[in-house]
Amino acid sequence: MTTTLAFDVYGTLIDTDGLVSQLRETTGEKAGEFSRIWRDKQLEYSFRRGLMQNYATFAVCTRNALDYTCDFCKVSLTVEQKEELLESYRTLPAFNDVEKNLQCLKSAGFRLFAFSNGNAAAVEALLDAAGVRELFLDVVSVDDLRSFKPNPAVYSHFLRKSGTSGGSAWLISGNPFDVIGAISAGMRGVWVRRSEETIFDPWGIEPTLTVSSLFELEESISACLSAEGNGDC
Ligand code: 2OP
Repeated sequence: MTTTLAFDVYGTLIDTDGLVSQLRETTGEKAGEFSRIWRDKQLEYSFRRGLMQNYATFAVCTRNALDYTCDFCKVSLTVEQKEELLESYRTLPAFNDVEKNLQCLKSAGFRLFAFSNGNAAAVEALLDAAGVRELFLDVVSVDDLRSFKPNPAVYSHFLRKSGTSGGSAWLISGNPFDVIGAISAGMRGVWVRRSEETIFDPWGIEPTLTVSSLFELEESISACLSAEGNGDC
């Protein structure tokens, strides 16, 4: 059976802390905290908009979260400085384990998709800038449903669009909420735990696999699939 891999984008392929050095120019020593709060608020706004059924794109969540973070951190940025940050957000860098390992996974016969809260145009542009767009069969965005992860409907949407069933589709994500959402919706989920400081939500739903970088992914999934014949995975 061909195995489908749905790669989350922001926080998995693309480093949402990739603007810390740019932020340092305007926010000084607050740059790390600023970046973290900006990302947390962006996600919170997406969750809330999903629950409220009051959709606006992920880019709007990002923009609103930037305004909140400036107020929270008492950082005064001009309109132009905010626009520059939002422009840079459109070409955030990929993590350094991405290109090589996507190439290996594709060569090994896995079907690769990008699956994101970002709208298709934003994700296409990010992956293009990172030089990895051509490694994916397609980009699937929650924007098609005007909702956000972890609404179970968006994971079902991914399965339909990729022509897969839950048992043969794996979500690969650095975001624990995304891994839990995918498993809860019937997919398998790999947690990419790039830092030992990150914690998985203690909900009683565990990742199918945990890896510390994409370098471990192919071997871990392949071992799991072959162990499955023995009922071990
Ligand atoms: C993404 O969907 C969750 O932000 C993450 O790309």
